[in-house]
Amino acid sequence: MKYALTHHGYRKEDCVQEGNSFLVGNGHIGYRGTLEEYRASEQVAWNLVGIYDQRGSKWRESFNLPNPFFFETYFEGKRETVHDCHPIKHEVSLDLETGLFSRHTEFPTYTIASERFASHEDDRLLAERIVIKAKKAGRYRFVFGVDPEIWDIHGPHFIAKEFAIDGLSVSFKGTGNEGGVLREQAQYQCSSSSVHPLSESMFEALVDMDAGQEFSLDVLAAVFEGEESMEFLGFDVAKERHVQAYSRKRANAYIEIQGNEEADFAIHYSVYQLLALGDSKRARGIPARGVSGQTYKGAIFWDQEIFLLPFFALTDPSVARGLLEYRIKSLPGAQAKAEEFGFEGAFYAWESQENGKEACSKYNVTDPVTGAPVRTYFSERQIHISADIPHAFAEYYKTTGDASIFQEGGAEVIVECARFFLSFAKERPDGLFHLEDVIGPDEYHEKVADNAFTNYMVKKTIDLAIEMVTRFPNRFEDPALLKRLVDFRQRLYLPRPNKGGVIEQFQGYFDLEDVGVKDLAKRLTSEKQYWGQIASSTRVIKQADVAALLSLLPDEFPLEVKKANLEFYLPYTEHGSSLSSSMYGLLGLACDDVEGSYALFLKSAKIDYEGASKQWAGGVYIGGTHPASNGGAYIDAVYGFCGLDLRGNIPSLHPKLPQEISGIRFRFQHRGKHYFASVTHDDATLKEELE
Ligand code: BGC
Repeated sequence: MKYALTHHGYRKEDCVQEGNSFLVGNGHIGYRGTLEEYRASEQVAWNLVGIYDQRGSKWRESFNLPNPFFFETYFEGKRETVHDCHPIKHEVSLDLETGLFSRHTEFPTYTIASERFASHEDDRLLAERIVIKAKKAGRYRFVFGVDPEIWDIHGPHFIAKEFAIDGLSVSFKGTGNEGGVLREQAQYQCSSSSVHPLSESMFEALVDMDAGQEFSLDVLAAVFEGEESMEFLGFDVAKERHVQAYSRKRANAYIEIQGNEEADFAIHYSVYQLLALGDSKRARGIPARGVSGQTYKGAIFWDQEIFLLPFFALTDPSVARGLLEYRIKSLPGAQAKAEEFGFEGAFYAWESQENGKEACSKYNVTDPVTGAPVRTYFSERQIHISADIPHAFAEYYKTTGDASIFQEGGAEVIVECARFFLSFAKERPDGLFHLEDVIGPDEYHEKVADNAFTNYMVKKTIDLAIEMVTRFPNRFEDPALLKRLVDFRQRLYLPRPNKGGVIEQFQGYFDLEDVGVKDLAKRLTSEKQYWGQIASSTRVIKQADVAALLSLLPDEFPLEVKKANLEFYLPYTEHGSSLSSSMYGLLGLACDDVEGSYALFLKSAKIDYEGASKQWAGGVYIGGTHPASNGGAYIDAVYGFCGLDLRGNIPSLHPKLPQEISGIRFRFQHRGKHYFASVTHDDATLKEELE
């Protein structure tokens, strides 16, 4: 099977979705899958990870750089692009095996073919080749260069833009509102010698062409944060090196679903999107919308720890380590946030930017009708982030066996998170510690008490902290800390299942209005309305919450409890977050609902090419790619269908395959060893491989 996503035919209205589906990226930069003649209004973006800028009091977000691939064709003085005439034929394609995007469009007078990639060999580099073939003889005019117009959500971010042309090279220096400087260099190589500068960043080529004659243009472009520059290799060499580097990563992340092309393609596509995000050098984290733009401010959420880290820990531990190093670097920011709210320890940012800076605003949603800001408490109350991070350190260690992460800052992260919970909790007359005024994963119910997910994840953080303090006694100054942790651990309130086995999501949840998702939807006053405005007084929840607890801490509860909760909460779950389906998929597999889980797996894996994801949260644009959904699909496949179990010293497999597929094969790493796993309906084998 050829692993390529291909769209035939041109529809203007697909430009935003295709920008996501056909994205190329390498963990440092991303370039949306847009056409050469597109501009800011079609959401062209060359997005950069981990560098942020704030314009006035608008939301602080990541940068998009000027587009070096702008290209338009004129024939006999008349422009001929998708804006001017409907193409005779049009196709865009993304080759998942090489990480190459391509486009073929036929117009009445010429055809355009282009190919592009974000280099996996040098992560600062983007490259594109454009070939025009004349169908009619005559004078062609090609306009190309760096488009100074930038698609910004809360920009403009460059207050000063300096472009300069030198030969066939364009350099750009942009100074952000916060004083940050980014530079871009774009080098053009062209088959015609009659090229002239048209502006400070654009060229034109005037070429008389016969039918069948070709004009070609190679573009190599790089982004720099300092004074460095790059000696560009030719397009062909850069492409070969990119393909080699990408293929190596892909081979380590090999997974194949047998007997079903739809599922097999879906998992390959998810892995493609995940590989577009892996960075092992810079430790800047993976934004919730990956490298697809500035949505969600380019910030890092719990998505990284819970949904992305497991993939990288199994397939490229150095990337997983980088994600944790990002949190280690962010510890001072998390300590500052705890202090700001009057607590001790580390309260990590809900939407984390560089050095752990909180990007989440107090009004994170707007009313789509009135435009009025809606007060949300995500940053102040979603404390589970400080438990999700220690959980990820433990998962990383379980998978890789790399204990050095604790010595190199991980122990401090865990203990500081634990200290935060100690100071946050309230001791009540029952003699127990309660976590009140919080938000669990279900953001529609804010300021609730004793969210089960949060309390159990906190328990795990305290356990880990006890382990760290015991293991590294000299690293923690407070002599009473261990005793405090042990006492807290014993007296932390942990909600228990009721007689029917159901765990109440938070105190008072069972008393809320009993209405289902479909009926609640009828109360929406506009399609874009934020569901939190109507769901908070009902049992309708945004996403897996108790289900997430049961999936992430599977040993805490017996099977009957898992089944009771799956059955109870599923009808109330809106799946208003793309994180939800894969979590329910995993829980469903634990409960032997293999077919239900298969549907949820497919929904998660296909989200960025066939999915119906939400584009708006109230009046706030939330479109882009969905890394957590792709990571969740991978988790469902490997830990769910294949039943990979890493609890012992040697990994084991306990498959539960849906009828629709005949087998799964995948490669992974565990504690420095490489394995090849193969499962079918009647067999499971695990072989150690030489590197
Ligand atoms: C979800 C969060 C998630 C965020 C980023 C929100 O809609 O509720 O759980 O972290 O999106 O993906």
